[in-house]
Amino acid sequence: MTASVDDVRSRSNIADPTLADEGALAIEWARRHSVILDTFVRDRLGDGSVEGRRIALVVHLEAKTAFLATVLADAGAEVVVAGSNPHTTRDEIAAALVDRGIEVHSTRLSGYEAWEKHLLHVADRGPEYVIDDGAELTMRLAAHRPELFAALRGVSEQTTTGVARLRSLAEAGRLPFPAMAANDARCKHLFDNRYGTGQSTIQAILNLTNLLMPGKRVAIIGYGWVGRGLATYIRAMGGTPIVVEVDPVRALEAYMDGHEVAALADALPDADMVITATGGLRALGRSHFPLLRPGAILANAGHHDLEIDVEALAAAAHEQDEVRPGITRYRLDGEHEVLVLAGGALVNIAGGLGHPIEIMDLSFAVQALSCHALMTGEYRPGVHVLEPHVDDAIARARLAIDGIELDEISKEQRDTIDPWIV
Ligand SMILES: NC(=O)c1ccc[n+]([C@@H]2O[C@H](COP(=O)([O-])OP(=O)(O)OC[C@H]3O[C@@H](n4cnc5c(N)ncnc54)[C@H](O)[C@@H]3O)[C@@H](O)[C@H]2O)c1
Repeated sequence: MTASVDDVRSRSNIADPTLADEGALAIEWARRHSVILDTFVRDRLGDGSVEGRRIALVVHLEAKTAFLATVLADAGAEVVVAGSNPHTTRDEIAAALVDRGIEVHSTRLSGYEAWEKHLLHVADRGPEYVIDDGAELTMRLAAHRPELFAALRGVSEQTTTGVARLRSLAEAGRLPFPAMAANDARCKHLFDNRYGTGQSTIQAILNLTNLLMPGKRVAIIGYGWVGRGLATYIRAMGGTPIVVEVDPVRALEAYMDGHEVAALADALPDADMVITATGGLRALGRSHFPLLRPGAILANAGHHDLEIDVEALAAAAHEQDEVRPGITRYRLDGEHEVLVLAGGALVNIAGGLGHPIEIMDLSFAVQALSCHALMTGEYRPGVHVLEPHVDDAIARARLAIDGIELDEISKEQRDTIDPWIV
């Protein structure tokens, strides 16, 4: 059953429908550079398996996500969309989707309470499949809509944090359906977490502050895929990364990669900027603020808005003000002040343009094909990873776009044992 645009309009919650034309232009720009989604993924979804399926798409709502929504809708799915974070929705994009007949529940500036309500509106549409980010919809379905949660046929999850949440549910015996850890596909975390977050985070920090990278010392908390990417781009632009890790092997890796490595208490007094990338809570908390260099710039690249404990910072400050769009100054003792970018939300998305389009083209190819695998394959309840041959096919499709073809390994090359040994 296809709903009319008027039905969709009346059911949706968006800020301003008059922004639709502006949003449509941005989605078209995303389409032009999302070649994998627009060709290879469209072909695979064209097998009829998506036809009539109810899919909830809960990812940061901007142009690239919107293009994925249109690809799913074009394949015949009934798509309902919400943003995965209250600070990152683009109202013009939400308006454009509604104009195309796709239901949306998301607004940029209405705060956490409205965001929670919007997610529950999406839940109440009774999706069969969820394409999630941070497991934000899945966890709310589990907590607030247990019958709808039990009726889910599958979830595909985009982030490190969300996969950790799904694995906790599975370990507790509370995951009654199969979930695909899209984040764990090689075509996702090797490129999105590393190059996508690396480039877009540094780009957002420099744009928000209008400052220069050469000469800056930048503490990176967490040296996972995101931390590695941040360090690469900081160094490439002339800055010096100082890595803070709790995992000794990853700390050693950072050291072998040629970066400075230090404990947090040693890194902070020496850092002009601090970027959190742990996926956990309060990586930078109350006890750390006095250690910061006066004028230090703090930004978060991890999933939670709570990696920097902004609430504790506000409580410790005798004054706070907006010194520039997206930059809040907190005055601590005397002249000591620190600056927080994008309110502590993901700086590359809340304070910037998000990942480059070509990176999200790869990530969303993984998400779409993970969802497709859940629809067409037989998976037991639990957390699964996309089969390697699908990952390989996505990588091949990406290389082919740039005219790159690969060799096949020959039988002789594949033999690993010298013939005279056997
Ligand atoms: N901003 C974005 O667009 C974006 C994109 C991809 C992933 N993410 C998010 O970024 C976060 C990190 O992702 P990842 O793939 O690098 O994860 P990861 O698990 O590979 O790496 C996280 C690292 O942080 C370390 N760590 C955890 N707590 C720490 C602490 N208190 N101090 C120091 N180190 C600590 C861990 O040991 C680990 O090495 C996740 O929340 C993920 O969802 C954000």
